[in-house]
Amino acid sequence: MNGLRAVGIIGTGKYVPEKILTNSDLEKIVDTNDEWIVSRTGIKERHIAAPEQATSDLAYEAAIKALESAGMTAEELDLIIVATVTPDTFFPSTACIIQEKLGAKRAAAFDLSAACSGFVYSLATATNFIKTGMYNNALIIGADCLSRITDYTDRNTCVLFGDGAGAVVIGEVPEGRGFLSFDLGAEGSGGPLLNLAGGGSRLPSSPQTIEDKKHFIYMNGREVFKFAVRVMGSATEAVLTKAGKTKEEIDLFVPHQANIRIIQSAMNRLDLPPEKCVINVDKYANTSAASIPLALVEAAEQNRMKEGDTVLMVGFGGGLTWGACVLVW
Ligand code: ACO
Repeated sequence: MNGLRAVGIIGTGKYVPEKILTNSDLEKIVDTNDEWIVSRTGIKERHIAAPEQATSDLAYEAAIKALESAGMTAEELDLIIVATVTPDTFFPSTACIIQEKLGAKRAAAFDLSAACSGFVYSLATATNFIKTGMYNNALIIGADCLSRITDYTDRNTCVLFGDGAGAVVIGEVPEGRGFLSFDLGAEGSGGPLLNLAGGGSRLPSSPQTIEDKKHFIYMNGREVFKFAVRVMGSATEAVLTKAGKTKEEIDLFVPHQANIRIIQSAMNRLDLPPEKCVINVDKYANTSAASIPLALVEAAEQNRMKEGDTVLMVGFGGGLTWGACVLVW
């Protein structure tokens, strides 16, 4: 990325819905228990959208805060990307709904589908638009309402997911700061391990797809777990090499919040002490595209980064996909 302008984060915001669903609430719905959920996943509770809230409503709240923190108005925005697997509708895109709601009249807008890796994919996409001079800024939102596609009779999945949104505004920053490198990847062969099969052009919604529960997330947890441990390590190493940094230089590690055991295996591989890792999976569970920005924004709110710190974000998800980036705060 040499010779092009430096691009970094200039504003942050997050939003989670008010309602909290605890592990003991879930004990009343499915055959599970707090001890199993905490020991296997690290999750204690998750936030769930109100019936009248859709993904764009969560995204909008996070976006307003990100714009405020950047000191910008919506009219100044050049581009809006919403990373989500739970758009309000197939079309228009959730990004277009946000564009209208914010009054971001000048902004181009589109959704990006890379499941839990979507936020990092979106950062990479928008960073390159700005580096090359096509745009000067972008609003990137990771937002998901996984509760809408979760089967609350399936204990294998329903304990894992929550709803939320995290947003950043990116733009030009002083030389030496901003995004140093990205590593994005996909393994489409693993698509069937984690998917939502119904309602698309392959298997349009019908009474049969509803009966077969094809409108809910399907996941082969063990296989996804193995993939996650593998790519969290390899993507982290690849993105560090591209940035010309060593693992010792990481000041803050912001991993996708899916499972505490996956995060811990990455921390062990990197030899990272707990104070260098952001963990909030206990409060929010896996919020898919919102997970990394929720962790990043919460860390920023807690003043865990100072100017010049090296931040590494890494995630994995449906596709299968992964994405990592190194950022100088
Ligand atoms: N409560 C109690 N028991 C349960 C529960 C539950 N909620 N869920 C499963 N079990 C049982 C299983 O039925 C199984 O019982 P059995 O041995 O009698 O068959 C037993 O617990 C062990 O199940 P495993 O699948 O082996 O448990 P594991 O230790 O692998 O943990 C988990 C399961 C937490 C799902 C883990 O595999 C995981 O985290 N995988 C990765 C998930 C992930 O990161 N997904 C990303 C999705 S992101 C997106 O794109 C939306």
